[in-house]
Amino acid sequence: MDTASREGAMQAVMHVEGTLEAAVRRGEAPGHPPGLAAAIRHAVFPGGARIRPQLCLAVAGACGEGGSPVAATAAASIELLHCASLVHDDLPCFDDADLRRGKASVHKAFGERLAVLAGDALIVMAFEVLGRGAATHPERLVELLRIVGAAVGTPHGISAGQAWECEPALDLVQYQRAKTGALFSGATMAGAAAAGFETAPWRALGDGLGEAYQVADDIRDVFGNPDDLGKPVGQDAAHARPNAVHALGLDGAVDRLEALVAAAAESIPICPGRKALRLRIIEEAQQFLPKKLRRAA
Ligand code: IPE
Ligand code: IPE
Ligand code: MG
Ligand code: MG
Repeated sequence: MDTASREGAMQAVMHVEGTLEAAVRRGEAPGHPPGLAAAIRHAVFPGGARIRPQLCLAVAGACGEGGSPVAATAAASIELLHCASLVHDDLPCFDDADLRRGKASVHKAFGERLAVLAGDALIVMAFEVLGRGAATHPERLVELLRIVGAAVGTPHGISAGQAWECEPALDLVQYQRAKTGALFSGATMAGAAAAGFETAPWRALGDGLGEAYQVADDIRDVFGNPDDLGKPVGQDAAHARPNAVHALGLDGAVDRLEALVAAAAESIPICPGRKALRLRIIEEAQQFLPKKLRRAA
């Protein structure tokens, strides 16, 4: 990325942080229950990689509207849903994880009841944020609601993905597409919708990157370091969950990751910023794995 584009991207990311802060602060208005407000703030700040909102903004930018308030709104709503999914994912009835983003998971810090409620409230907040921020473009808002709802619901969104863990048998690809891929394709399609572009052609980019990201997460779960990652490792084996390394071996998993990223980058539809977006995706996907696990280019 050149310096001007990098500065533009940074500003757009700051706009998303501001949208997240404003949404969380609305829940801290006089008369709020303090425990829930604190649990919500703990879940959203400080953020992790913020990869989904950046992807959403990058697509909106490639469509010519990266700096628009609707794009920031779409990106913030996606991140709120992601934060909610992590709070629920860490609960004792799912992964029972004590650590998230280098600090206590929400239920460890605030108890299970507030963690359930914080996750619920974040999901609702995501839709409220969309309603507030995209009201200037009602036709885009309708499409955004449809996309974001599908990404977190069922049959193919996050709820479905997590529900596969409650089934006696599952298919690794179907499971990972729903659990992780759906919010990535939600991010790419929401970025296009925020710019008023047709959304369906952007699904493949998100699906591919989401699957690649989950394969990378599986590799980190087996070979990563909890201090670097800020969350426990070895979780998939501990909970007998499917993991790409268990299924394909390390080399097979890295091959799959690379093939997914390459195909995703090629799938980018014709748009004003296609070339720059393609290069940025390939560059940023290098960061999916810690340095010591990357292959020489
Ligand atoms: C963690 O997502 C859950 C997965 C789908 C792998 P991230 O790795 O994006 O988590 P944060 O937001 O950076 O903490
Ligand atoms: C989380 O998947 C995906 C969600 C829908 C939250 P994992 O359980 O594999 O992710 P981590 O390793 O806890 O971040
Ligand atoms: Mg999980
Ligand atoms: Mg987990």
